[in-house]
Amino acid sequence: MAGGAVAGGAALLGGCVQNPRDIRIGFLVKQPQEQWFQDEWRFARSAAREYGFSLIAIGAEDGDRVLSALNTLYARYAGGFIICAPDPRLGPAIARFADQTKLKAMSVDDRLTGADGRPVPGIPHVGISARAIGTLAGASAAAEARRRGWTIAETGILRISFDTLETGRERLTGAVDALRAAGYPAAAVFDAPQRTTDTEGAFSAAAPVLTAHGGVDKWIVLGLNDETVIGGVRAAEGLSMKAADIIGIGIGGSEVAIADLSKTRPTGFYASVLLSPRRHGYDTAIAMYRWIHDGRQPPPVTLTSGTLMTRDNYRSLLVREAAA
Ligand code: GLA
Repeated sequence: MAGGAVAGGAALLGGCVQNPRDIRIGFLVKQPQEQWFQDEWRFARSAAREYGFSLIAIGAEDGDRVLSALNTLYARYAGGFIICAPDPRLGPAIARFADQTKLKAMSVDDRLTGADGRPVPGIPHVGISARAIGTLAGASAAAEARRRGWTIAETGILRISFDTLETGRERLTGAVDALRAAGYPAAAVFDAPQRTTDTEGAFSAAAPVLTAHGGVDKWIVLGLNDETVIGGVRAAEGLSMKAADIIGIGIGGSEVAIADLSKTRPTGFYASVLLSPRRHGYDTAIAMYRWIHDGRQPPPVTLTSGTLMTRDNYRSLLVREAAA
């Protein structure tokens, strides 16, 4: 009899439109200490406040933590989750979990893939238009080098890379292609693979490469995010290079970039491509809410754009972003 009562209760619940307050959405990020992810969470929380659902923010820095976070969400009756996984190849395991538990899953920033590198079908994704944003970074570096009167022959391009991540590879491919189109030869590009995508990981990757090419006078520093480029710029500055001889262009435009751009004296960090954590945090949380509440599935892929932010325009851009 008790079983019948439970089944009846479930049927009744199934027939009701869910109260927003009963909707719980998980938001899992791979690097909770990184400003970008803090910003995504902040915007997702503001969506939760506005729509009345609960947001469960969890940092998941490796595969084990992802799996235990997913179990926690299931135990807490979450209706779905948004994830930027520490390794995109967790895709099949995440998709299997979502399938078995009926939790709805979306990815943000880093697209989930199978072991073959192909996207996992059925998981809507929101990411940046990586190649176009990389192109903007590379073309802007070339324009600034021209403005400073640098010759191509005296300039090195430090490509701090994290090529196992598709969005990282695409960003740098776009940037290097734009510099090649501006006349820089392939021999001017120096790879510095980083183990981690933070400032420390970039600094350790960049320092030996810069030291090994001490004869190069001017450097363009590229990487997949602001933290990476700041690490490369600090390594160059640490080797006594002048700020005027370094053009670092990051991607993100968050606090870490603004801190450098707003210093009284210019540093080697020349610019950042400003992204929209609001679209990645607020919009994704609402898309998930609508999926759970109204059964409206988000589009399979949404790609967001970026704007070049320098010392000259960062204040006005931030005012615009705040008003959006
Ligand atoms: C990746 C990077 C982050 C950030 C996001 C933006 O996840 O690791 O630093 O740039 O993309 O989508």
